[in-house]
Amino acid sequence: MNSVIKKNLLIEGKTKKIYCTNNPFEIIIHYKDNLTSLNGKKNEIYQDKGILNNEINTHIFQFLNSCGINTHFIKRINNREQLCMKLKMIPLEFVLRNIVSGSMAQRLGIEEGIKINKNGIIEIFYKNDQLQDPLINDHHAIFLDIISYEELNYIYSIMKKINNILKQYFLSKNIILVDFKLEFGKNTNNEISLADEISPETCRFWDKITMKKLDKDPFRKNLTTKHIDIIDVYMEILKRLHHNSSYQ
Ligand code: TMP
Repeated sequence: MNSVIKKNLLIEGKTKKIYCTNNPFEIIIHYKDNLTSLNGKKNEIYQDKGILNNEINTHIFQFLNSCGINTHFIKRINNREQLCMKLKMIPLEFVLRNIVSGSMAQRLGIEEGIKINKNGIIEIFYKNDQLQDPLINDHHAIFLDIISYEELNYIYSIMKKINNILKQYFLSKNIILVDFKLEFGKNTNNEISLADEISPETCRFWDKITMKKLDKDPFRKNLTTKHIDIIDVYMEILKRLHHNSSYQ
């Protein structure tokens, strides 16, 4: 069996480090303990958050792989790291919303909590720190030469599929999937795969019974009072993911 050898640091982001490996087609993703919001202006360390996040992501990506979704995830290799396929990332963030919340509620001046139809609403954000990741539409993305119509349509169809899979899955854990952000990349054959992460940092999760927020939102809104708040949320999500039987 070929063993993975970690090589040089390729890139360090706000919450992750990416390393090259001895295989040019594979990378190692290392989850840090930093939690950030406001495009990195707020940045705090929560001890062991990266370990929990690695475990949550491993669980969700393994589940999506088992459902036939193409993802970058290969395997978890230790408590903070996973082996993934090396992709050329598409510099767009795709948000799918099932319930109005966050920036959509603010932008349109509507109340949080309004349900959207079963397909949800997809929004595209252009990943550009200087511009603070503006909301753009399909035509902007194509004009900027980031992506083609065919690729966009393919991503939309995959997102709807992922939404149906994850909505059901989280509901069986008594969690409402309010919205989530996905990122995609291309391999050397130009095939598109799901990449990045799916976690309380990139999704809104509400408890089905109490409607308590089980995600990063309280941190974004400065509502967390102590270290334990955030770590508790990650542990609660992990506990529910590992809980086999359906709550329904
Ligand atoms: P928003 O309501 O702030 O636009 O966020 C929509 C979803 O996207 C929410 O689940 C959080 C996630 N998200 C990220 O993962 N990264 C980001 O930079 C932003 C702005 C949102």
